[in-house]
Amino acid sequence: MLVVDNLIKRFGGFTAVNNVSFKVDQGEIVGLIGPNGSGKSTIFNMLSGTFAPSQGSIRFEGHELSGLAPHTIINRGIGRTFQIPRPFRRLSIFDNVELAGYYGQNRHSRAKASDAAKRALGLVGLPTDRHASVDGLGAAGLKKLELAKALATGPKLLLADESLGGLDEKEMDQAANMLRKIRDELGITIIWVEHIMGVLMRVVDRVMVLDHGEKISEGLPGVVASDPRVIEVYLGTDAQATQAAAAERRR
Ligand SMILES: Nc1ncnc2c1ncn2[C@@H]1O[C@H](COP(=O)(O)OP(=O)(O)O)[C@@H](O)[C@H]1O
Ligand SMILES: [Mg+2]
Repeated sequence: MLVVDNLIKRFGGFTAVNNVSFKVDQGEIVGLIGPNGSGKSTIFNMLSGTFAPSQGSIRFEGHELSGLAPHTIINRGIGRTFQIPRPFRRLSIFDNVELAGYYGQNRHSRAKASDAAKRALGLVGLPTDRHASVDGLGAAGLKKLELAKALATGPKLLLADESLGGLDEKEMDQAANMLRKIRDELGITIIWVEHIMGVLMRVVDRVMVLDHGEKISEGLPGVVASDPRVIEVYLGTDAQATQAAAAERRR
């Protein structure tokens, strides 16, 4: 579904993503992990068209995406969430999600965008009435709103950037189950960037690890969690707990 080849992103003289290649198959949930600043969000920004790659190619369903504008990429079927939610505060929850629905698969009619918003809000468990305000949403609610906005575009591939940040244990489990449900019930393929390894390792099919902009490991959660290089640069003292989580992985 997605084939990324030798992707490079430079900011001035600094190389944030260095020669990264990977594939994602239809129906997979792939975890993308690595230390802070290793290039995860920059990869999402290139996949979603926020940044043009300095070099390399991104092919989605056989078509080259690099250099296309964000709204064109959404229309092709890639939706994303942002690590830091910034909804329109003067619009209701519903209107934020309906507005997102004017991009992507449902953009051709207001009725379709509106239906997509209703479905997306129902799926993430937010109120579907037109007037509920964004102001009452806490961290978990804002993350749900991010997911609902991405889903309202009718994506085939969802890029989820740190869906668990700021959530408590119970909310994290709910969010992880939600991603699983989005894949299982809607058939949406997911790339998931996350720092909370215990939750991620239980859910994903496969993991890729970045360090200083380079891919240093890739494979099944259990294999990656035991990779000495990944333990050295990222997992550290969390290695054992991460391996235990990977061993509990749901299939
Ligand atoms: N717009 C930008 N301009 C300059 N440097 C950037 C920009 N975006 C990201 N970077 C740098 O690129 C590196 C990778 O950042 P990022 O992809 O956000 O990391 P991650 O998401 O893995 O924490 C960091 O060193 C960051 O400071
Ligand atoms: Mg990031």
